[in-house]
Amino acid sequence: MKENRAQFATRLGVIATTVGSAVGLGNIWRFPYETGVHGGGAFLLIYVGFIFIIGVPVICAEFIMGRSTRSNIFGAFRALHGRPQWAWIGYMGILASILILSFYSVVAGWTVEYFVQSVTGTLASLDAGSRHEAFDMFCTGWKPVMWTLVFLAVNAVILLRGVKGGIERVSNVLMPVLFVILIIFCINSLLMPGASEGLAFLFRPDFSKVDSGVLLGALGQAFFSLSLGLGTMLTYASYFSDRTPLVKSAVVTSALDTCVAVLAGVIIFPAVFTFGAEPSAGPKLVFEILPDIFHRLPWGALWSSLFFFLLFLASLTSTISMSEIGIAFFCEQFGLTRKKATLLNCLIAMVLGTLCALSFGPLRDMTVFGLTVFDLFDYVSSNILLPLGGMMISIFVGWFVDRGILRTQLRGTGSIKEWILRVIVFCLRYVAPAGIALVFLSGLGVI
Ligand code: PHE
Repeated sequence: MKENRAQFATRLGVIATTVGSAVGLGNIWRFPYETGVHGGGAFLLIYVGFIFIIGVPVICAEFIMGRSTRSNIFGAFRALHGRPQWAWIGYMGILASILILSFYSVVAGWTVEYFVQSVTGTLASLDAGSRHEAFDMFCTGWKPVMWTLVFLAVNAVILLRGVKGGIERVSNVLMPVLFVILIIFCINSLLMPGASEGLAFLFRPDFSKVDSGVLLGALGQAFFSLSLGLGTMLTYASYFSDRTPLVKSAVVTSALDTCVAVLAGVIIFPAVFTFGAEPSAGPKLVFEILPDIFHRLPWGALWSSLFFFLLFLASLTSTISMSEIGIAFFCEQFGLTRKKATLLNCLIAMVLGTLCALSFGPLRDMTVFGLTVFDLFDYVSSNILLPLGGMMISIFVGWFVDRGILRTQLRGTGSIKEWILRVIVFCLRYVAPAGIALVFLSGLGVI
């Protein structure tokens, strides 16, 4: 069975697939909204710090576990240590993947609605004031439920028909187009009257705004954006060839992911200040601002149709990667066929996704700890489950996995400088676990 596992054919295929999982709504929707909520510049700086000090070593750890065992998260812990007590990290990853899939699909559904509105010209026909109202009305109604379910069904069909490879190939070709479009939008935003205020908000750190919430938010965003801490990168690495350079892939993935997030910030914040919006508006921020941005461009409807279509594709490559975790689990643990496992995973996400979709309207008052279902799923998965999973994975690889395995994996078929290996092991043993623990403790008010 192990010998028959598929492998990514090319180096570019490896990068494209891991970047495909990493780049998505996390960069374009969640990053600007979290940055806005947490006060701008200082959040960005801390976020980038976390990406490179904690994110890169933990991606390497997931890569090592995946490629050395050629297995999913459960199999990897079992093969490397054999003790059942590590299994709970796998369960946490599955819970996180299902919670994320549920609320992520709601936002992906919003992109579908915007795509339809762009193509039909509805979006362009409204003036600024009524656009905001229209989005509010849409969000608070029942229509998002429909798009959430449609999105999840498309996701399931792709997983079921095994055309995943096809989608990934299409998206590999189209993602550079998304990148180019983002750069064009950036230039457009930089020409807006609120550009300097927006850039100052994004890039000028104001450390008086840093509190435990900002730290936890930045850590959660780093894990969310890198698809890290739940076994996604681990599973993908199980398909890497022995020649794939792990450290380089981790660095390139993180760098590209961060670039896309920063580009999104440069697009959104000048517009936020130009149009007098509130940076801390939360999950709706980006969707309220984007149409204003398109409206300023010639052929606005064309740009917005293209953009939302590409965003939809980027979301799909991310949801495909997170669905794999639950599917592999249901197959292995309950002996379900892949088809049944996919349907079960999709069905659970449909039920939970419906609750999330309604939490902007009819279920707005259904709250736990003051958070709506949508916010709760987002908070628990990104700010708790993913960093905790990442912490355990880095402790596991740093302390319990044989150094020889680490060296062989990180070296691959090439060579690795001894100091790079040392730095990674040091980060995995001390820096990442201690950093995550400190952020958690400050979040709990202990320090
Ligand atoms: N990283 C993805 C994004 O930024 C979201 C994701 C999280 C994907 C967890 C897989 C696992 O959109």
